[in-house]
Amino acid sequence: MRQLIAGNWKMNGLLEASAALAGALRRGADGLDCDIVICPPATMLMTVAHVLVGSPVEIGGQDCHAKASGAHTGDVSAAMLRDAGARWVIVGHSERRADHGETSAQVRAKAIAAMAAGLTPIVCVGETEAQRVSGDALSVVGTQLAESLPEGFAGVVAYEPVWAIGTGKTATEDDVRAMHAHIRTCIGAGPRILYGGSVKASNAASLLAVPEVGGALVGGASLVVEDFLAIAKAANRG
Ligand code: PGA
Repeated sequence: MRQLIAGNWKMNGLLEASAALAGALRRGADGLDCDIVICPPATMLMTVAHVLVGSPVEIGGQDCHAKASGAHTGDVSAAMLRDAGARWVIVGHSERRADHGETSAQVRAKAIAAMAAGLTPIVCVGETEAQRVSGDALSVVGTQLAESLPEGFAGVVAYEPVWAIGTGKTATEDDVRAMHAHIRTCIGAGPRILYGGSVKASNAASLLAVPEVGGALVGGASLVVEDFLAIAKAANRG
């Protein structure tokens, strides 16, 4: 299966610069042999979608509410994301699990809402540094998967060790190989399994070559078009 390179812009940028970034990506993405998704902040989705009309680059939200509509001040539903042009949505990112106390049960409900609205959920899992040091990484991730993925899951899993996100540290290829094999055993054949956590142009090729790595979820490096495209080129293996 083609690899998927997903860019998570997090809470960065304003409209004009974001439209320019999307435009540069559009121009550079011609001929790439991987799937590309970018996830801008919610306020920018429509503008970025407009810039990308007719381009193979797709867009996603960074979170959605589990309910379809209602009295949930400040939240955005999966249908609203879809209406704004998104086809994907990240759910259960560790920053949301940490900053907003999201539980795996809530993540599961969000994944269900995403699928019901016609979005492909990218469900994030990953252990903390303390959990890795104590030897619990595989079991922590196994539990997160069991609790976060709904029946009939039709999406993507992103393995993002919390200690590797935004830190410049990446998991070793051996650790990634072992974790991705474990995730594959837990979830069965089908869903792509992305690696995320300080993926950059310089380490993308080796991480993307690890068995069962179906792509990358990229934070910081997705904000620099040359870096993001270099990562996407490393994934060119249809
Ligand atoms: P990073 O973020 O690439 O900046 O480490 C990855 C992510 O949080 O998805």
